[in-house]
Amino acid sequence: MTRWWPDMLYQRFDPSGCDFPKARVPMLPIFSRHTLGYGPASAQKTATAGAKLRFFSRARYALREAYRLCGVGPDGALMAPTYHCRTMLDPAISLGAQITLYPLHADLAPDLQALTTSLSACQQPVKALLLPHYFGFAQELEPIARFCDEHGITLIEDCSHSLWPGATGDTERGKVGTRGRFSVSSPSKFFPCADGGVLWTNQDAPAAWAQQREPDSAQEIKSFAHSLICACQHTASPDVGALNADLKALSSKLARVGSDLLTLDQRTSPAYNAVDEPNPGLAWSRWVVRHSNLARIASRRRAHYRQWVSAVAHLPHCRSLFPQLNNDSVPYVFPLCISHPQPHFYILKQLGIPVGRWDDMAISDCRTAANYRLQLLHLPCHQELSALQMTWMTAALKRAMLDFSPNHK
Ligand SMILES: Cc1ncc(COP(=O)(O)O)c(C=O)c1O
Repeated sequence: MTRWWPDMLYQRFDPSGCDFPKARVPMLPIFSRHTLGYGPASAQKTATAGAKLRFFSRARYALREAYRLCGVGPDGALMAPTYHCRTMLDPAISLGAQITLYPLHADLAPDLQALTTSLSACQQPVKALLLPHYFGFAQELEPIARFCDEHGITLIEDCSHSLWPGATGDTERGKVGTRGRFSVSSPSKFFPCADGGVLWTNQDAPAAWAQQREPDSAQEIKSFAHSLICACQHTASPDVGALNADLKALSSKLARVGSDLLTLDQRTSPAYNAVDEPNPGLAWSRWVVRHSNLARIASRRRAHYRQWVSAVAHLPHCRSLFPQLNNDSVPYVFPLCISHPQPHFYILKQLGIPVGRWDDMAISDCRTAANYRLQLLHLPCHQELSALQMTWMTAALKRAMLDFSPNHK
């Protein structure tokens, strides 16, 4: 299981040659006239400023600061989950640290038994363990926190897929981001802001946060203007009535399947830019986070999620990873397991559905990660989707699963 940087082997899906069209619906929320509203303003304020908190331009740079403060670097390793995107590993690579991957069960909970084996295989002291609350669904924290405590490892909660620490309920599961010594969130996944990455500590404020550079006024103005333009624009929805013709036109395109590449990589991924490590993020993004209507975000995301769950309930070749939406969860996306990436992934992409997938991943012998790399799709459920857009996406998914057999060429 253990993979040590610098000989990290990645498996990456390369879509060149597929000619996938641009997504016809936004994957992330875009600023609209409904964005702003009254919410628990004081909670929102404390989540963007304060001595125990730092704002960055992306969560990946917030993670770097968390790793650094834990001692991850040339003499201290990071434990990260086998199912990941590259930006979760990049900050440790940037710090010159070794990484060991720990395995996951099919529900993406850490495999606690294998965790101990992974740890004993490490040749270096492990300083931090990264625990993501995937897709907005809280992990059970106590067992992993106990493991960390027993082994002198600092727990970092990755709340990039969670709306808010403790914002959506008072149950144990609602309190994501409050147990680890550090927690990180990624506001641009939930709020229509151009950037953002938040790091906070649940213990005393660190003696020395890394120095950040001066804010960039030109970017502030550009980002503010972009939001205004978005708020004034009407987003057209794709037409359900055109689905027949769109599906008919697919046949010739489905032969383009891209390729799966194995690469030995010692560097950070192209998504990581070391120049942005000291970037403090935009004041405009912080303002949008503070003034967004949290109740609307939560209720619309939950409604869209439920719409996806019921749309796929009786479909062949696919299943929702988490069909139950408990009271505390505000989902980031709808995770859908498909049995046959070929042809179904390609059909959805060629139709212009915004489909995310973590198909560029460090290799491990964890079956969950190996299966989910190509079979777990991330579909949007954000608050700014219109009823027409949801109808189009769910109708397209139904047609893809019902009309195309796995052997379709
Ligand atoms: C679980 C998780 N952690 C961290 C990140 C990095 O977030 P950001 O894009 O804000 O750097 C991502 C990005 O998708 C993510 O999915």
